[in-house]
Amino acid sequence: MASATSTAIQPLSVLLLLLPVALQLWPLMAEEEPVPAAWPEQFHSVLFINRSGSLQKVDLWYDWPNGRNFNIIQHQLGVLSYDLEWDNGTSFYYSLPPFNTTCKVVHFDVGILRPNWLDGATFLGLKNVDNFLCNVWEKADFITYYEDVLTQRPVMWVFSSGMVAHVMTFEVGAVLDDPNWQAPVYCFTDKDSSSPLLEPSLAVLSHGRTLIRGIPKYFSLVNVF
Ligand SMILES: *[C@@H]1O[C@H](CO)[C@@H](O)[C@H](O)[C@H]1NC(C)=O
Ligand SMILES: *[C@@H]1O[C@H](CO)[C@@H](O)[C@H](O)[C@H]1NC(C)=O
Ligand SMILES: *[C@@H]1O[C@H](CO)[C@@H](O)[C@H](O)[C@H]1NC(C)=O
Repeated sequence: MASATSTAIQPLSVLLLLLPVALQLWPLMAEEEPVPAAWPEQFHSVLFINRSGSLQKVDLWYDWPNGRNFNIIQHQLGVLSYDLEWDNGTSFYYSLPPFNTTCKVVHFDVGILRPNWLDGATFLGLKNVDNFLCNVWEKADFITYYEDVLTQRPVMWVFSSGMVAHVMTFEVGAVLDDPNWQAPVYCFTDKDSSSPLLEPSLAVLSHGRTLIRGIPKYFSLVNVF
């Protein structure tokens, strides 16, 4: 009876001895490339953006369930401008007093970014950026995306244009109150007489299946699929 018990225990104890070794080897054995975390359905992020030496602080309010995305752009010691994007394709670019009360409305054939827009990105390896050890991916030859290895939060992204966005805060679940998403009245009445806030050379560039909403002073991503 007693000997039967001890032989039953022996293989188990060998297994327990090997377990720490197996756990250590597991990542090496698996050798699977990391994949970027999907974006949370709702978040607020403060970004510091350097566009060829011109600096901006951007409040990004991503709100997928409500089909809307907001970039509130503070140009250094300059204009505060708003880039309000709806999933139905309409974008409003405007500023408010004391800045010019101008608005430009643009319609795109694609909606806002999907939470999984990074799916299919090409893994480039590990790199230290902004003092974080990051996994790095490239998506569609136009964005390089850096994600903190430890927390899987975005740290930085770089557009092929050279524009660099550093992620300063990342508040998952934060939602901007509804009244803030109302474009000013002159977006609906004044369309033709208003001088565009941003250069009108707004373009939708097609990179295979990727569509980019481009404005000279700011780039934003739309539905990649
Ligand atoms: C912004 O980027 C330019 C290069 O385009 C660089 O020379 C400059 O140092 C950067 N400024 C900051 C504050 O990072
Ligand atoms: C898209 O939605 C916004 C917000 O509800 C609205 O102002 C705009 O007119 C809509 N655009 C179209 C093309 O329906
Ligand atoms: C406001 O508009 C005027 C006329 O278009 C322009 O000259 C001026 O630079 C604009 N000011 C700002 C702060 O955008």
